[in-house]
Amino acid sequence: MPEINERMVCESSELVEREHGIRFALPELGEHVTGFVIRYKGSVHAYINRCAHLAVELDWNEGDFFNMDKNYLICATHGAHYQPDTGYCVMGPCKGRSLQPVQAIERDNKILINLESLKNVRNQ
Ligand code: FES
Repeated sequence: MPEINERMVCESSELVEREHGIRFALPELGEHVTGFVIRYKGSVHAYINRCAHLAVELDWNEGDFFNMDKNYLICATHGAHYQPDTGYCVMGPCKGRSLQPVQAIERDNKILINLESLKNVRNQ
């Protein structure tokens, strides 16, 4: 069961290692703001779905966050590459900046986000 400050975003089985990410709405941050969660090296990682370069979503094709080699998250607009486990941009126009993290946990075969962690999100 989610705690009061948590929200379930998907079942654990839906989140496959380095495959499609799962998007979720974040109405707390605005009408059209979304986040996404991916699985990388077995762990779940969630971020605000907003490039560190410009305020656009990373995935042109819904849920497509990984590059071809499945070793970086990529922004489809201008190709920024981010480390999947830290959100740090290693290549592209926003090199040295980072995606904004959302705390995610896996419990009882469900992926949950911690709504408290949204308080730290900056507006761009
Ligand atoms: S908008 Fe993402 S790299 Fe430019």
